[in-house]
Amino acid sequence: MTTLPIMNKRLEGGQKNIWRKDKMENKYAALFQKGKINKLELKNRLVMSPMGVQYTETDGRMSERSIAYFAERAKGGVGMIITEALFATRTSGGASHYIGDATCLPRLTELTDIVHGYGAKICAQMGAGLGRIEVITPAEPNPPAASAIPSYYNPKVLCRPLTVDEIHQRVELIGSAAKRMMVAGFDAIEIHAHAGYLIDQFMSKEWNLRTDEYGGSLENRMRYATDIVKSIRKNVGPNVPILFRIPVDHKYPGGRDINESIPIVQILEAAGVDALDIDAGCYGPTFYWLFPPSYLGDASMLDLATAMKKAVKIPILNSGTHTPETALKAVSEGAVDFIMMGRPLLADPDLPNKLRVGKREDVRPCIRCNENCVRINLFMQKALSCAVNTRTGRERTYNITKSDSSKKVVVVGSGPAGLEAARVAALKGHEVTVYEKNKCIGGQASAAATPPFKNIDRLLEWFEIQLKKLAVKIYFNTEITPSSPELANADEIFIAFGAESWVPPIEGIDSSIVVDVRDAHLKPDMVKGNKIIVAGGGLSGVDCALELAIEGKEVTIVELLDNIAIETAFINQQAIKAKIAEYKVNVLTKHKVLRISSDGIVAADANGNEVVIKGDTVITAFGTRANKALADTIQDKYPDAVLIGDCNKVGNIGTSIIAGFTAAYAIQ
Ligand SMILES: Cc1cc2nc3c(=O)[nH]c(=O)nc-3n(C[C@H](O)[C@H](O)[C@H](O)COP(=O)(O)O)c2cc1C
Ligand code: SF4
Repeated sequence: MTTLPIMNKRLEGGQKNIWRKDKMENKYAALFQKGKINKLELKNRLVMSPMGVQYTETDGRMSERSIAYFAERAKGGVGMIITEALFATRTSGGASHYIGDATCLPRLTELTDIVHGYGAKICAQMGAGLGRIEVITPAEPNPPAASAIPSYYNPKVLCRPLTVDEIHQRVELIGSAAKRMMVAGFDAIEIHAHAGYLIDQFMSKEWNLRTDEYGGSLENRMRYATDIVKSIRKNVGPNVPILFRIPVDHKYPGGRDINESIPIVQILEAAGVDALDIDAGCYGPTFYWLFPPSYLGDASMLDLATAMKKAVKIPILNSGTHTPETALKAVSEGAVDFIMMGRPLLADPDLPNKLRVGKREDVRPCIRCNENCVRINLFMQKALSCAVNTRTGRERTYNITKSDSSKKVVVVGSGPAGLEAARVAALKGHEVTVYEKNKCIGGQASAAATPPFKNIDRLLEWFEIQLKKLAVKIYFNTEITPSSPELANADEIFIAFGAESWVPPIEGIDSSIVVDVRDAHLKPDMVKGNKIIVAGGGLSGVDCALELAIEGKEVTIVELLDNIAIETAFINQQAIKAKIAEYKVNVLTKHKVLRISSDGIVAADANGNEVVIKGDTVITAFGTRANKALADTIQDKYPDAVLIGDCNKVGNIGTSIIAGFTAAYAIQ
């Protein structure tokens, strides 16, 4: 038995072993200095970012599920939690938290009590309206916005400009709702002005076309925001912090840029805002900046926050793809005052406590896939969870406890499903052995982990460390078949064979220039020459194309459908397309590969015309098929063996981890 390291990245390392250098001291101590916003003291510099969860009761009250979810994060040691946007008016978007009357108080009080019990502070993020992002309904066919601008959801529909009376009413409502938040026990208020929502629409030249006192000059465009600040201040008193969340760069031509944002944040400071929460992007072409995918790298919006720090004297909070290391650096160097973490705390609510007690290696990393937190939550309305942490949002459902008796658990395959099953079974006190036919853990995920813009290697390294700590035995280079003696004495068998590449019956598929996408990732020497064709524009093909383009190759993607990377969240798709354009990858959609020759491929375009594409290497990425045949033969002999992950149903890392978690959790 041996434990081998997972595959290293080909080009640049992730954060492998970074924390091990300073084991003797707590190098993250700077993050655990107390911090202050107005008169409020926070026990550390880590703040949980606001995130919409879709757990809200149908009448808009906070649910008990939400309370359990927040309690888990408070218990994990974060200094302050900022809730998702709470609204003083009913929005048409569905599951929004409503704080427009006293019905919200019982649950919110329960929330603030439990958070305070863990020594954390809690801040209510207050929405001031969605404007053009409001869903169009029969009751509100022309959503109320700053001006008669096109609706985000249907640009043919023009929004209805709010009247001055309506603006005043909203300002009053928000002020009185802020007072209600004080009654509920909140410590601070954050004004939600990000993402191109209503306040942002008022502030932006692009969306504010008014000619009254709320439009025109910068001072007038800022009036809705500053009126809200003053109204909240009047209601919460001088000492309660008012934070303001603002995207200081919309990140597209015509949107607001950083230079335009500097006087804006100075006006906000003068109006009484106590701290700025800085991010970027907005609904539209740069939506992906709101939920920055792995393609944007670490600390993706820190530069913007640092620029704002120079423009004002109030504390600066910054969110967006922080790691413990980027957080530490930013706070130590005084680049910002507080680091916000959203998805990292979905992946691991205990991140702050783990850093505080010197257990950096135990922090489960967010892989920035946007699957279970964004795609499945916000776009499929299935409620927020996390691809790498099945317990997120299900804190009341899953509590891993030791079993009464220890069983012998055998896991065959060490992709994400097998690794998670092994981890959870071991946490339950079972004796777990993993058999892996390759020389390292990860399965297909080890191939997907190689590009510099992916974080999967961090996850695999975390699994490796956890299994070692849990004394899970791993045997590499070991193939298991139905007759393998390793299965004979097992009480529980989990089969996690993963999936294999699908090889379509295309003429020339055996050509010497053809390389499977996984080999292209893991054995870069197999990719010859400079002109590369990637046949198949699913996520794996596109990631491979981008990886090679970053290395300097001239890459063409040939895809049958009319779009690429369709299986991923559309925001990730947006980010991928931006990167593909940056690295000049040639994308041919609606092209069917007809045959492969010794110097490229022949494809048929949308009109059926043959197109010759020259290439030195053809990488095949036609998708995968469940590795079911062998798995079924094992199940024939051991009917209670459980198939988990891709060998049962092809999915992604999130579906595999959930399958591994739930199967091991169910061991009696
Ligand atoms: C599922 C989800 C919901 C979000 N909802 C909100 C929200 O209600 N209000 C807000 O200001 N930001 C929202 N955000 C943005 C986050 O606060 C944060 O800025 C973003 O996730 C980037 O930070 P991270 O890389 O630490 O996750 C949301 C993000 C996610 C992932
Ligand atoms: S679902 Fe993916 S992006 Fe979202 S928190 Fe989990 S790992 Fe991160």
